[in-house]
Amino acid sequence: PMVEFLNFEVLEDHGWALEDEDLFAKAADANLQSTDFGRFYVDPNDTLLEAAEKNGFAWPFACRGGACTNCAVAVVDGEMPSPASHILPPELTEKGIRLSCIAAPVSDDAKIVYNLKHLPEVSELLL
Ligand code: FES
Repeated sequence: PMVEFLNFEVLEDHGWALEDEDLFAKAADANLQSTDFGRFYVDPNDTLLEAAEKNGFAWPFACRGGACTNCAVAVVDGEMPSPASHILPPELTEKGIRLSCIAAPVSDDAKIVYNLKHLPEVSELLL
């Protein structure tokens, strides 16, 4: 799968919201740094976090086991199934929030906002 990614902190800086229909189009036009916006390929069998690291990106994590939410991302477009065992409550998985340390996209293309640990609903779960 090819992942297009965007740093959640950029949303805060620009006053954008996860729900914005044209979020990634706005990001593409905003001349963002390559660590904040870009794309990479996820090899089969890699988690999204592993793929980001292989591509030289330092995305947040701590436990690497689905127990802390530091690695949370929002799936804006595409499919990224969530394994059964993890700490996220259903309210957040229903909104497309996933843990990058235990999951990866399965669709050919995906749009992912990383650094979701700064979203208030996620940060209150941080361990
Ligand atoms: Fe802790 Fe992913 S790093 S849940």
